Amino acid sequence: MSVLGIDLGTSGLRALLADDAGTPLGSVSRDYATSSPHPGWSEQDPLVWIEALESAVAELKASYPQFNDLSGIGVSGHMHGATLLDQQGQVIRPCILWNDTRSAREAAGLDAQGDVRRLSGNIVFPGFTAPKLAWLRNHAPQDFERVAKVVLPAAYLNFYLTGDTVADMSDSAGTAWLDVGCRAWSQRLLEAGGMQADHMPRLVEGSQEAGRLRRSLAERWGLSEPVTVAGGAGDNAASACGIGALDEGQGFVSLGTSGVLLVARDGYYPAPETALHTFCHAVPNRWYQMGVMLSASGSLAWLAQVLGRSPGALTQALGEALRAPGSVGFLPYLSGERTPHNDARVRGVFYGLDTASSADDLTQAVLEGVAFGLRDSAEAMKQVGVCPNTLFAIGGGSASPYWLRLIATVLGHPLALPEGSEFGAALGAARLAMTAAGLGTVEEVMTAPQVRGVVEPDADLSADFEAAYQAFRKAYPLAQGLSDLC
Ligand code: XUL
Repeated sequence: MSVLGIDLGTSGLRALLADDAGTPLGSVSRDYATSSPHPGWSEQDPLVWIEALESAVAELKASYPQFNDLSGIGVSGHMHGATLLDQQGQVIRPCILWNDTRSAREAAGLDAQGDVRRLSGNIVFPGFTAPKLAWLRNHAPQDFERVAKVVLPAAYLNFYLTGDTVADMSDSAGTAWLDVGCRAWSQRLLEAGGMQADHMPRLVEGSQEAGRLRRSLAERWGLSEPVTVAGGAGDNAASACGIGALDEGQGFVSLGTSGVLLVARDGYYPAPETALHTFCHAVPNRWYQMGVMLSASGSLAWLAQVLGRSPGALTQALGEALRAPGSVGFLPYLSGERTPHNDARVRGVFYGLDTASSADDLTQAVLEGVAFGLRDSAEAMKQVGVCPNTLFAIGGGSASPYWLRLIATVLGHPLALPEGSEFGAALGAARLAMTAAGLGTVEEVMTAPQVRGVVEPDADLSADFEAAYQAFRKAYPLAQGLSDLC
């Protein structure tokens, strides 16, 4: 038997076929773009996700005979995106993504309502789903009137797969409509956002069954046995499942388009007075906390595009050995900022440029700015008493040994490299498919991976990077001032 883990990422979709022990057999991916029709907007057409899924499945089926024995599918998706369905289940308009900041005003309005943070366990960030719907009501009421269901990106793929609107707890925690402690839609939060209970999909745990693969799809994909579709997960919870980060203190640093420092908790310990996120995990009775920056590998991808080179070429040009902090600084706020400042307006800044500044200096500044942004999340965690023990490094940016050494040094914490790190959230999604299809319990399936290496902080440069981090912190108010000028 085999299982399929699908990771609907921001820059592309990965489909991973694994055997019934969760060992990867093969994976394929498809890239797609994000559109930004106005500054601060970030959108994708959900039909592009379906095309990517269908084409990835066709390739897997053609390449791996084990696909024909598929027993389960799990989907992980980028979080918070508002995918709006009408009564007929048709998509009303492009999905507004997690890094879209247009609804800052609506987010502040919801956040200011007395019991909203207490119930949702989080600040209402502009990237969350509830303010996006509030924005729609204010700015496109004709679309808002047509909304019959709101689903997140992973739940939209589940809808395509099963024909049913079902959402998992981990992703739903990022809507600001869920009572995150009780793991249920909150009538009060829905009312605060002008929504009704029947706008919401049915809730299940990520590791449980959401439904069965639609007969017409199963026939088209040549599958004769029933295929279980799992509840699935938001991408960060799925990545945590992929590296077995379920118990207190286990976590990761993720260098995807976003940058995430995530630590699993043994209970629900909300900290809504801070910009840390406290969300349900993708398995029952567990939660996690994370700090999120909106542009991590996204910043490097941006620089690479501007310089007409690849991100890999830029990082490799810095060589192997960690350099002392550079004289050019970078504030990685290309899409605004979440942890710790919750500032949708602030934008990126290079400072300290001079006529001698080179492409390598800019690359170094970008890598350092992202490392300092992750350190901001680590500091926010420290303030509320969250102590990471094992931290794995995952996500596309973790392919750069230079960046990992830099981040380990700036965090003052070793980073473990998991075997199979390239599969990330797709592996977590495949594991959710396994538990939902009855191929093992959560404890049996969500184990820690083999460690293929550990990146230690560079003790010789720790003091220099500490000083550079303190300078970075002082630069944020300047960036705020500059964004007032733009
Ligand atoms: C988490 C967040 C991002 C997205 C995209 O709150 O917004 O990490 O899930 O990966």
